[in-house]
Amino acid sequence: MTQQLHTDELFNLDLIHKYDKAGPRYTSYPTAPMFHTGINGTSYAASLARASQVEGPLSIYLHVPFCDTVCYYCGCNKVVTKQRERAVPYVEALLKEIDMLADTVGRKRLVTQLHWGGGTPTFLNESQIRSIMGRLRERFEFASDAEGEFGIEIDPRECEDDTVRILREVGFNRMSMGVQDFEPDVQKAVNRIQSEEETLNVLQQARAHGFQSINIDLMYGLPHQSVESFDRTLSTIIDFSPDRIALFNYAHLPRMFMPQRRINEADLPSPGEKLNILKLSIDRLLSAGYVFIGMDHFAKPDDELTVAQREGKLYRNFQGYSTQADAELLGLGITSIGYVDGAFFQNLKTLEEYYASIEAGEFPVFRGYQLSDEDHLRRHVIMRLMCDFALDFKAVEKKFGIDFAAHFAVETAELHDLAADGLLSLDTNGLQVLPGGRLLIRNIAMVFDEYLRNRKEEVKFSKVI
Ligand SMILES: C[S@@+](CC[C@H](N)C(=O)[O-])C[C@H]1O[C@@H](n2cnc3c(N)ncnc32)[C@H](O)[C@@H]1O
Ligand code: SF4
Repeated sequence: MTQQLHTDELFNLDLIHKYDKAGPRYTSYPTAPMFHTGINGTSYAASLARASQVEGPLSIYLHVPFCDTVCYYCGCNKVVTKQRERAVPYVEALLKEIDMLADTVGRKRLVTQLHWGGGTPTFLNESQIRSIMGRLRERFEFASDAEGEFGIEIDPRECEDDTVRILREVGFNRMSMGVQDFEPDVQKAVNRIQSEEETLNVLQQARAHGFQSINIDLMYGLPHQSVESFDRTLSTIIDFSPDRIALFNYAHLPRMFMPQRRINEADLPSPGEKLNILKLSIDRLLSAGYVFIGMDHFAKPDDELTVAQREGKLYRNFQGYSTQADAELLGLGITSIGYVDGAFFQNLKTLEEYYASIEAGEFPVFRGYQLSDEDHLRRHVIMRLMCDFALDFKAVEKKFGIDFAAHFAVETAELHDLAADGLLSLDTNGLQVLPGGRLLIRNIAMVFDEYLRNRKEEVKFSKVI
């Protein structure tokens, strides 16, 4: 199903202009703004107890919030500090949280996916990394290295000589690296000075130690970027030849993210220039042989993401796209989100609250969402659209026991509008996203978002493009 496209097919300026509105990225459905405090640590304990009684793989997300310096563009959940000792109580709390979860869920279910995100996971030192990983392996049953996807986010500036070796030794086999842009004036304006050499060094070490599917994050829309300047960054990255590239659209929301106020808005590229940078990036990446997977992600044709997409076995979760079947997810650390027993659970957002809750022996969950049958149906539809660029109505009818056209009458009418605009083609059996609709996949997914439809107030989502 995945086929190589030409830039002019993918990048349709008229459609982009028409559909350029804010929308969710659908790393979950319902999306996080729907979470509410009616779900808490007590509900989580009950759901975990039920989760211990069922079969199926488990996924674990562990959040390390600390960063040594702040990148002004950053919209991630982070705590900026130079005080390394602040990690000590955090690691203690994580170890306790691992125990609390394992006491409830038990070792019966195989962990096939693990992801450490941040912040900067390598803010932790070797002994802290070893003690967390040791505890996880002691308390949970992990899939073998060949079967499991065990990933970590790396900031190459926060990586010592033997860090990559240690990470591989403790069991990580996937890596994602932040770069954004290599131009000196861009790096200065966003307070992230990172050389090509240190980035390449980490990449080469990762390859030498057997990491697979290595990803690099880039960002367009940053201050001082131009088509010409970003072309140089793209050339360097293409030479580095990572397995995957994530190309994020800079979401400038200074009212939500304080550090972004230090970015001079006059230095940001104009909307027209941003689109030109996006078009150039697509052109360069497709020409270099990368496949557009969907929602900011590109991968080599033989990467496991591309293969999974071809086979209709791609999934989407809080970390983006994944080859792991729709596993239940345990979140560890502040702000992390889990998905267990048909419900989302999010951990407390501040260190103080998190420590207090763990100290009291209570799960540090402050909000979440219990999915209804209708939510499950819509979650499935949105997941398949985002992953397959297609939807088999008959398969949905069979799986959920509905009549698609009757159940989704309003949605089907809207799909016909999108078809008239050339985003997709559809008949009574299903829909196929056309090349020009691929960059706008979340607009198509939004048709099935019941809450977006009924939402009165404006919610802060980033722009589609
Ligand atoms: C969770 S961050 C962690 C990566 C790691 N700390 C590092 O900096 O290398 C993952 C990625 O989110 C992206 N990101 C952060 N802030 C963003 C923003 N405001 N808009 C779009 N993407 C953003 C960046 O590309 C970043 O590499
Ligand atoms: S981009 Fe990474 S290193 Fe920079 S502030 Fe955000 S989380 Fe920290």
